Amino acid sequence: MTTPVKIAVTGAAGQICYNLLFRIGSGSLLGDTPVELRLLEITPALKALEGVVMELDDCAFPNLTNIVIGDDPKEIFDGVNLAMLVGAMPRKAGMERADLLSKNGAIFTAQGQALNEVAADDVKVLVTGNPANTNALIAQRNAPDIPAERFNALTRLDHNRAMTQLAAKAGVSVNDITKLTIWGNHSSTQYPDIFHAEINGKPAAEVINDQAWLENDFIPTVAKRGAAIIEARGASSAASAANATVDHMRDWVLGTPEGNWASMAVPSDGSYGVPEGIISSFPCTVSNGEYSIVQGLEIDDFSRAKIDASTAELVEERQAVTELGLIEA
Ligand code: NAD
Ligand code: LMR
Repeated sequence: MTTPVKIAVTGAAGQICYNLLFRIGSGSLLGDTPVELRLLEITPALKALEGVVMELDDCAFPNLTNIVIGDDPKEIFDGVNLAMLVGAMPRKAGMERADLLSKNGAIFTAQGQALNEVAADDVKVLVTGNPANTNALIAQRNAPDIPAERFNALTRLDHNRAMTQLAAKAGVSVNDITKLTIWGNHSSTQYPDIFHAEINGKPAAEVINDQAWLENDFIPTVAKRGAAIIEARGASSAASAANATVDHMRDWVLGTPEGNWASMAVPSDGSYGVPEGIISSFPCTVSNGEYSIVQGLEIDDFSRAKIDASTAELVEERQAVTELGLIEA
């Protein structure tokens, strides 16, 4: 039998994971490839996690070969090939995601160090827990032996949100849209960019041709969708966040479709003038498990200002976690 892919998931008794774990178990992530789940929680949540494991058992998923649970990152991350770092406090109504920096940041120092010590050589780490971009930076900087580019953060939920908004405006299916991009931070400064997107192969901005909609409707709707869901549900997005986590990791492992790209928050190499080192969202293609930032896109003044504003926020967050002692300057 093929050796199972070991997948660590943190925050495993939480809301997002109550959807995510079952999607992984049923094959949404890796199809028929056997998987072993390694589930991390804090000690008081282990009992609830035992209940989740009972339910996973009761699904009799054919490709879920084993489940290990625990509260020690070094045990849970031992030999893992994929790590989905979901566990962190969600924001409540009225908070910005950056308000979570000091509360959640420390989780990612310990987990970065543990991954550094015990994860498999090929580990890929995706951070969903907020503030996702800077938490990913904290984990990365605490894991100096793991190549820096193996740390990503989730902006795929923003990408998926933007896809649906654009499809609705154009009166088309999401299947008709390609090359949409989220730039910057997973926060209200993010920039959902339709200027390189295509609708059935035609430039989306020409098909829509409505700058007022773009500025006053589309961009704020996508950028503030997380807050709108908290307001409506009384809790932050969970199933859609799990779905986006699967989408990002599946594309990272199995590749992006020909002729399209995905939005992935990855360590900046300076492309498009984004300050080097911050984990910022870019258009990316993936092949053979390695992503590349799409190069050569023209950025007009409108897009430039939006990208700069969001990446400036990431630089500020990096400064804040440096001052908190979570990463070295
Ligand atoms: P939740 O409160 O339901 O679950 C979080 C879980 O994490 C809890 O069970 C908690 O015990 C656990 N946890 C806390 N500290 C931990 C640690 N050190 N190790 C392991 N587990 C730990 O929250 P949720 O709704 O599942 O959301 C989780 C995170 O994901 C939040 O920070 C939320 O803001 C974020 N989120 C991100 C996106 C995105 O697009 N990036 C979308 C939605 C939510
Ligand atoms: C989201 O985008 O839904 C999440 O990041 C939760 C939040 O705090 O907005």
